[in-house]
Amino acid sequence: MLKGKHIILGITGSIAAYKAAYLIRALVKKGTEVQVVITPAGKEFITPLTLATLSSHPVISEFFSNRDGTWNSHVDLGLWADAMLIAPATASTIGKMANGIADNMLVTTYLSCKAPVFVAPAMDLDMFAHPSTQQNLARLRAFGNRIIEPTSGELASHLVGKGRMEEPDRIVSVLEDFFAESALLKDKKILITAGPTYEKIDPVRFIGNYSSGKMGYALAEACAERGAAVTLVSGPVSLVARHPSIQVVRVESAAEMYEAAMEAFPSMDAAILSAAVADYRPETMSDVKIKRETTSEMTLRLVPNPDIAASLGAVKKPGQVLVGFALETDRGILHAEEKLRRKHLDFIVLNSLQDAGAGFQCDTNKISILDAREHVDYPLKTKQEVAIDIVKRLAVCWS
Ligand code: PMT
Repeated sequence: MLKGKHIILGITGSIAAYKAAYLIRALVKKGTEVQVVITPAGKEFITPLTLATLSSHPVISEFFSNRDGTWNSHVDLGLWADAMLIAPATASTIGKMANGIADNMLVTTYLSCKAPVFVAPAMDLDMFAHPSTQQNLARLRAFGNRIIEPTSGELASHLVGKGRMEEPDRIVSVLEDFFAESALLKDKKILITAGPTYEKIDPVRFIGNYSSGKMGYALAEACAERGAAVTLVSGPVSLVARHPSIQVVRVESAAEMYEAAMEAFPSMDAAILSAAVADYRPETMSDVKIKRETTSEMTLRLVPNPDIAASLGAVKKPGQVLVGFALETDRGILHAEEKLRRKHLDFIVLNSLQDAGAGFQCDTNKISILDAREHVDYPLKTKQEVAIDIVKRLAVCWS
């Protein structure tokens, strides 16, 4: 999977920089072309000579050469890359990346890079745990960058805790998995529903729910990053899709979401239905604001909305993959299995409001994936990481 791929390896000033030598060797063995970009502090920990020898490319550190005035173009580098990996990434570089402080060649290249970016932090446990570092990492995740979590163990300070850069072999497998999924998702057309729906009562009031769209938007980014063309039918949320391969169709009500999904689905290879669709809407909507002064009591009569997932399941053609979600508060597995069968889903993602950090609005989720044969439980992860787990499962349908 890594053969012929172009990877920019960014190295920063950490003792873990020595592991970059092993990383380059492992990547080059797999047939990858590696271009090293190193920060001035990085050069204090490992010599450019070692890195240039292992990668067979001159190491880039400065914007231009003092000797002959030649420029290193961060823009060209960013376009050349199939992926950028920053390993080790110090707290300082992570902070600069999160805030666009382009004062060295590495961060400038990062800001110009159109390819997926992987970040392997390495630092002391207290630095890693500091809210500032955690906030910067959260920003990088929100930009769509993948954080390869550090492991726990003895650190350079001899303290024991989380902050050791992940081992080179593990980092290489993360990259391999990414390119393997990309090979399966490339040029696939994927419909994703996200966010809540609003069912109008009058021009100022609606029935809605707490969905923020974070789960659906993370899925859209994960699919698009792997080469899929995504149609994202989104209920009213404040999020913005970043990737150019995501076409957003904005809707408000369940009826509008139904129309948009039914229209798009025939030309899709898959649909992932993560939206929290209102099951009922008011039978009538008042054209003018209902006045409290004129209505002492109010009864709302509700009628059912179309079930988008079940409707897509009914028209699904052989080869199309349909993925649903189940948001439950009790007897999750039982309800999810029932939805899997009734809506003709290929698999269903169960999340429960009983789990802390799962479901609406939070940046994390805890899921189980159920299909006709088995169910697999996953630990609490960021919604970006959960999206990748779902995309991996989707890729299995095409492998
Ligand atoms: O948006 P976030 O704040 O990040 O929160 C994410 C989430 C909690 C909304 C998401 O993870 C989730 O669980 N989405 C599905 C919520 C839901 O409506 O679940 P459900 O069990 O009621 O519906 C089952 C399936 O049928 C879902 O795929 C749903 O999209 C679909 N459905 C439901 C009703 C309906 N009328 N049409 C549908 O297509």
